[in-house]
Amino acid sequence: MEKREPQNDRNQGCNPLFIWYIIKKILDHVWGIFPCDSEKIGWKEGVVLEIQVDLECSGVSAEDVASRRSEAWDALSEIWSGKLDFTGWAAYPGKEGESEIEEVLSAAEKIRKTCDVFLVLGVGGSFMGAKAVIDLLGDRTSGTEVLFAGYNFSARYLREIFRKIEGKDLGLCVVSKSGSTTETLSAYGIFREYMLEKYGAEEAAGRTYFVTEHRHNYLFDLAEKEGSKVFDLAENIGGRYSVLTPVGLLPIAVSGIDIRNLMRGAEEIADPECFKGNGLDYAITRQKLREAGKGIEVFEFFDPYAAYFGEWLKQLFGESEGKDGKGIFPASLMFSRDLHSMGQFLQQGAPEFFETFLLAGETGEPLRIPDSAKKPFAGKTMQQLNACAEKGVYDAHVAAGTPVIRISVPEWNEETVGQLLYFFETECAVSAMLSGVNPFGQPGVEAYKKEMRGYIEKL
Ligand code: PA5
Repeated sequence: MEKREPQNDRNQGCNPLFIWYIIKKILDHVWGIFPCDSEKIGWKEGVVLEIQVDLECSGVSAEDVASRRSEAWDALSEIWSGKLDFTGWAAYPGKEGESEIEEVLSAAEKIRKTCDVFLVLGVGGSFMGAKAVIDLLGDRTSGTEVLFAGYNFSARYLREIFRKIEGKDLGLCVVSKSGSTTETLSAYGIFREYMLEKYGAEEAAGRTYFVTEHRHNYLFDLAEKEGSKVFDLAENIGGRYSVLTPVGLLPIAVSGIDIRNLMRGAEEIADPECFKGNGLDYAITRQKLREAGKGIEVFEFFDPYAAYFGEWLKQLFGESEGKDGKGIFPASLMFSRDLHSMGQFLQQGAPEFFETFLLAGETGEPLRIPDSAKKPFAGKTMQQLNACAEKGVYDAHVAAGTPVIRISVPEWNEETVGQLLYFFETECAVSAMLSGVNPFGQPGVEAYKKEMRGYIEKL
């Protein structure tokens, strides 16, 4: 990041930063003068952190970012101090996590042997992380299928789930920190009856797993009474920071993904040392952009399997930062699909947003387009075309004056995704704290729950 150019005007149009970027590109193309400007974050000895953060065209100067590094560091230190509520996630990987991982793995093994479908009921932080990781890394061709419900009130959706589980052996996982969320508990009421009818009380209890706080709440008490397995969601970890606890790990393990490698990735980066120097520059840059009037961040992916990662990011940032009028509205787009619907808007639609690409090199055999296809793409691979799309969008949007950040890993795998999940949790919490809001509460969500309950009780 130190190689970036000084601060420039953030307005749309031909500002010097973007002109310089184009000149650099030409010089690089002709003489190979300028190497990649991305910086790896983290320098923990003996550990390779795979995340690259490229802020070259973010429009925020290196000096401006550096000026807030000590403030960002203080925020991180506060998170790690243990004095703040709901910061248990920070030190969780590698410490409190180990014994629970054993338990999760043995439950997952049993579930994989006895269930064709594992149905996870939960909403918000109680399901999004698991779905994001399974969509991204899951093997969709074999094993126990993991389905999700309890995150909407659609009767049609639930009927469709019933259609999918017909004739199949089912395991149920009810995830709710509070043990009182309406979406989750109403769906559980329906599937509990189904399980009792299909398996009888004892087997139904053995096929049902709960993830909730270990204290009196509706789910915890019921699980104790019926003898179902309960995984603890620690009191000091909030829903949207819980993907690397049994909340996410149990469904992820059931899907066949190696949670040890996922946790190894998280553990590698779960150390304040990794965020020293430039490690919190993404968080600082976001806040600088917000202060400059860029109140919308669009996360952009070039892989359709990352769609739910976008949803997870939206919840993480939206619920953590969206308070006191200081939020950055998180949106997500899938390319190249959305270039044909939102590309126009991104180029010329509004000056309030910045873009954050989330990139990973594609693995697997190159998929070659036959020579008989139309030129110029005949003979090229789909992977090559995707890389060209990414470079082309970056150049075009930078040239149009939009701040663009690129965050990349060499490929999606358990380790890099573990690192990314933890990276975003940290950057999000620090970013919120830099704006002066508490990342860990969600008073707005609680208010809607209360209002809705009032209407339901009157029915
Ligand atoms: O991040 C959060 O805290 C929320 O999104 C919760 O995960 C969501 O509201 C579900 O709550 P619960 O797990 O208590 O059912």
